[in-house]
Amino acid sequence: MRDMITLILAAGHGKRMKSKKHKVLHAVTGIPMLKHVTDLAKSLDSKETVCVVGHEKEQLLPLLEAESVKWVVQDKQLGTGHAVKMGASFFENQEIDVLVLYGDTPLISSKTMTDFIKYHRENDFAASLISTKVSDPTGYGRIVRDASDLFTRIVEHKEATEEEMAIDEINSGICLFKATLLSEYLDRLKNNNAQGEYYLTDVFEALKNDAHSIGAFIADNPDELMGINNRVQLAEAEVYAQQVIIKKHQENGVTILSPCATTIERDVIIGMDTVVYPGTVLKGQTEIGENCVIGPNADITDSKVGNDITIKHSTVIESSIDDLSNIGPYAYLRPKSRIGKDVKIGDFVEVKNSEIGDGTKISHLTYVGDGIVGKRTNIGCGVVFVNYDGERKHLTEVGDDAFIGCNTNLIAPVKVGDGAYIAAGSTINEEVPANNLAIARARQVNKADWSSKFKK
Ligand code: UD1
Ligand code: CA
Repeated sequence: MRDMITLILAAGHGKRMKSKKHKVLHAVTGIPMLKHVTDLAKSLDSKETVCVVGHEKEQLLPLLEAESVKWVVQDKQLGTGHAVKMGASFFENQEIDVLVLYGDTPLISSKTMTDFIKYHRENDFAASLISTKVSDPTGYGRIVRDASDLFTRIVEHKEATEEEMAIDEINSGICLFKATLLSEYLDRLKNNNAQGEYYLTDVFEALKNDAHSIGAFIADNPDELMGINNRVQLAEAEVYAQQVIIKKHQENGVTILSPCATTIERDVIIGMDTVVYPGTVLKGQTEIGENCVIGPNADITDSKVGNDITIKHSTVIESSIDDLSNIGPYAYLRPKSRIGKDVKIGDFVEVKNSEIGDGTKISHLTYVGDGIVGKRTNIGCGVVFVNYDGERKHLTEVGDDAFIGCNTNLIAPVKVGDGAYIAAGSTINEEVPANNLAIARARQVNKADWSSKFKK
């Protein structure tokens, strides 16, 4: 079998997106379009992947570097044919195949891709393309076929006659060539068309006219081949991609009550029998275990959630939660919160960079910042871990089986020992040894008959 290299075209302006951000960096399912395409390229049996960059290339290079994808520069965007030519040094005079992907066509599945590559190779076509039938072909190149339904040429929207405009079979842009023929026919391209560009699509007509065989692979799912040029198409792509993701989780045994009111990014993992309520957004590298109740309105990013956990109306960022714990409503777990097993983090509780031991309860209106809290401890309503002195953050340590009364300030750095009690309303700035009771508040004074005298 011949080797294959993959070229990703991403040098164009993307003017229709109306954005300072490069078109292919706009995200679908939380992942930049270009990364969808580089990931796809990597999943294929490709010897090398090269991205053609040009317009605002500085924006793309960090992603390409991170993904170890090479690039070549197309200084002037003279068309897709010209863009492919910029990658010629990677395929010239080689008996290989050249796969062309577009940076703005991110939804194609690897199943469709592998079927397409197989089709091209088994039939030994000189060049192949993926087409599909759509209800609205506006903007796309149309596939023109002859009376016996054989591929004739691709006509771009801007050059199409009225009759050709009505053709509903469109060019996805994705195509595969024998490298030697591609080099030869790229050299012959002309730019005498409506846009004054060198169209890669013209290579097909030229090959066909010289009696080379062309494969037009009609993909049955047009949504996968959506090219994204503007914000309307970006939203349509997101809707479709979400449907694919949600279906995958449903097939894995996850209940998603309102798919259209739920956002789940591509890499999220969810265990069996977990139920996801509306308004939930699961992002980044989030992993959720089995039998959880997530939402309504859970916003979870890059976090690891165990089994049998409930998270309602809460935000969780870069944190971990162990089995059987109960979060929310209205809790805020900020980065590096490590919540143990069977913990309760209740309403209006904020936790940041802290470890909470198994069985501990922090039920209401509390801030835990830079703390280490032991097991089975109770933190009362309105407790504040006073972690910041205006310059630096300090650690608060609370042992196992402790009881921190309501409205306690723990002024860090400070330690509270195992089994210690703190009276409600205390401000603690010295260590409380194990099993002690600390009371750090003014003694109550009652003044008899004070109010009747005052009113007079
Ligand atoms: C292209 C196809 C059209 C197809 C459609 C599918 C051509 C001539 N037309 O049209 O048949 O139906 O895609 O979405 O190929 N690019 C470069 N350098 C350039 C020009 C473009 O790298 O000089 C890149 C763009 O960044 C983009 C891709 O090539 O990723 C496609 O370019 P675009 O201008 O969006 O082509 P379409 O008009 O959509
Ligand atoms: Ca396009």
